[in-house]
Amino acid sequence: MKVIRSPKEFQHRMRLLRRRGSSIGFVPTMGALHEGHLRLVRRACAENDTVVVSIFVNPTQFGPGEDYKKYPRRMRDDLKKLRREKVDYVFEPTASAMVPKKSSHPVRWETSREFHRLAGVLCGKYRPGHFRGVAAIVAKLFYLAQPHRVYFGAKDYQQTAIVRRLISDLDLDIAFRLVPTVREGDGLAMSSRNAYLSPAERARALSLSRVLFVLRREIRAGRRGIAVLRQDAISTLRRRVDRLQYLEIVDAETLRPVSRRGRKCVALAACYVGQTRLIDNVIIPG
Ligand code: PAF
Repeated sequence: MKVIRSPKEFQHRMRLLRRRGSSIGFVPTMGALHEGHLRLVRRACAENDTVVVSIFVNPTQFGPGEDYKKYPRRMRDDLKKLRREKVDYVFEPTASAMVPKKSSHPVRWETSREFHRLAGVLCGKYRPGHFRGVAAIVAKLFYLAQPHRVYFGAKDYQQTAIVRRLISDLDLDIAFRLVPTVREGDGLAMSSRNAYLSPAERARALSLSRVLFVLRREIRAGRRGIAVLRQDAISTLRRRVDRLQYLEIVDAETLRPVSRRGRKCVALAACYVGQTRLIDNVIIPG
């Protein structure tokens, strides 16, 4: 497994691989790898000649007061895990190589990828600028890696909708793979941020997946309307978590709220347990 730090060298290597006809599967991550990431890696290994993982805690997607500084960084451990999975390349750039600071300019990043609506709803309402930062860095990683296939976890559902849209709007020749959320045995969605939870908070955090599972079952059963089910789920979650930011049931593609069952939809929620912000979702087939 080769670790590359320079964006130019990374791009050069990927270009050579492509020229030689090797298919490239790419898994972008922010490190602190858990089983959820490893599922993406395994799927990439099964479908490509070369597998590339990037590890980069992207400063542009964290807002002021968010956890950029304390976000878990476990490079040694991550590299060990990726070696075990037989990953071919790890791209691990420095922040200054990816997001150059221009001393003559107060803004650290000039090029932006704006979304008219997708990035302003759900998490976007509570994390202004977050998806702009995600999209800018994902686009840069795609240009550098020139992958044939990319792998994203369904836990960050809104992010996946935005990346799919980026690929389709820009006609990038990249196949997008959505990989189901990986959960702990008791249902908690795996996340690098779970490491922040105390044992008592971890127990309360379980309410998030439990409420979403009940909601999915009830929506599928179709005995009660979506609006009523949503209100019930909101009331239950409000009693159990510290701060519920949103719980919405939206169309799986447009992310517009749905009022009745029809097309595939997704129930998503974000809340705080203690100081930790958690997100989760369930996909409900049409
Ligand atoms: O999901 C993540 O880990 C990040 O948002 C990503 C896609 C690596 C971009 O920084």
